[in-house]
Amino acid sequence: MVNRFVVSPSKRTNEITYAVRDVLLVANEAKKRGKEMIYLNIGDPIQFDFYVHPFMVEAVYDAMKCAKNGYAPSAGVEEGLESIRKEAAKKGIKNVQDVFVSYGASEAIEICLTALADPGDNVILPSPGYPLYSALNSKLGIESRYYRLNEADNWQPDVEDICNKIDQKTKGIVLINPNNPTGSLYSKEVLVKIIEIANRHNLLIFADEIYDKILFDNLQHTSIAALTEETPIVTFGGLSKCYIAPGWRIGWGILSGPSSSLKDYIGAIHKMTRARLSVTHPMQYAIKTALEGDQRLIPMMNNKLQKRRDITYKRLNSIQGLSCVKPTGAFYAFPKIEIPIPDKEFVEKLVLETGVVVVHGSGFGDAAGKGHFRIVFLPEEEILEKAYNQIERFMQQIMKSL
Ligand SMILES: Cc1ncc(COP(=O)(O)O)c(C=O)c1O
Repeated sequence: MVNRFVVSPSKRTNEITYAVRDVLLVANEAKKRGKEMIYLNIGDPIQFDFYVHPFMVEAVYDAMKCAKNGYAPSAGVEEGLESIRKEAAKKGIKNVQDVFVSYGASEAIEICLTALADPGDNVILPSPGYPLYSALNSKLGIESRYYRLNEADNWQPDVEDICNKIDQKTKGIVLINPNNPTGSLYSKEVLVKIIEIANRHNLLIFADEIYDKILFDNLQHTSIAALTEETPIVTFGGLSKCYIAPGWRIGWGILSGPSSSLKDYIGAIHKMTRARLSVTHPMQYAIKTALEGDQRLIPMMNNKLQKRRDITYKRLNSIQGLSCVKPTGAFYAFPKIEIPIPDKEFVEKLVLETGVVVVHGSGFGDAAGKGHFRIVFLPEEEILEKAYNQIERFMQQIMKSL
């Protein structure tokens, strides 16, 4: 007789949610009911008319043919690391102490949080913000404290609010620029103020710049690490978004700042990269071709996306009951629901009644995300128009019922 027992999951998984994918449960229900689905929930350019650069595919294929199929060095292959160092220099990042390759920016973020804080410490996160950070903090027993992104100021970080959240247990500040879910690009003035705060309180800055080349209106991106040599900063990047290869899982971390501040931390990071052996080996050979090869595909992608951003901005602001700040980077818009209905309920109804799948704003942080939803404007113009027609009809019905 086998003794059957229930395998109870650890408490540390209780708080983990990931709204971007959780919304698919409702979407599956709508699909079952026969709705024509339009998915505007996942930021994966490959699902739409964007393609990984052929020269990157060739580089990976050549690496496979040239026997690069064993484990790679734990920190990454030298050719890729060298290109990331050059990329850091191009971004104007000074005082680079270390670079390492990871399974997407996601793993670099996980490694860096794990190496930074102990249970009971806290890390300050943007709200609204990308939910991976709070999920990892839950797993690691790190307290998440949220600072406000100010919608009235084009979703710029509220610097005063950052200051209010810092205490003796604070270890770092996370900055996502350009931002997911708001699509906003941060001003130099705000970045300088955040550096001042970090210096005052001895905090590490995590600069998530995974969307740094997806920009509109001829705007320029400023890396926060380019503005200081004195502040310890980890800048995250990768091939997932700007180079359209999210499934290859290639990301990286760039550590900059004074060597004396970062020496032990870098040691801890590398203990972890060694423990997980290596990142997928052949894919790392695409780093050099991506970062140092022909860059013309980037403005082509941005031109396409800017047209979709324009449609999104225009249509959302013309729908009664919605308003939207103009996104200036990445491929997200974060409209406000101007009527009294909880955002989760709004999104569930929208998905079930129209088949248009978006993500509820509170999935990106309860405080500032509430009353909003996130749209991914990667699809082609006709699909977006169709989605906005559906959203418009849905809003008209709701407005009538108020
Ligand atoms: C702000 C932000 N950081 C990190 C990631 C994860 O990137 P990767 O695919 O390189 O793990 C994403 C993915 O959507 C993101 O939006």
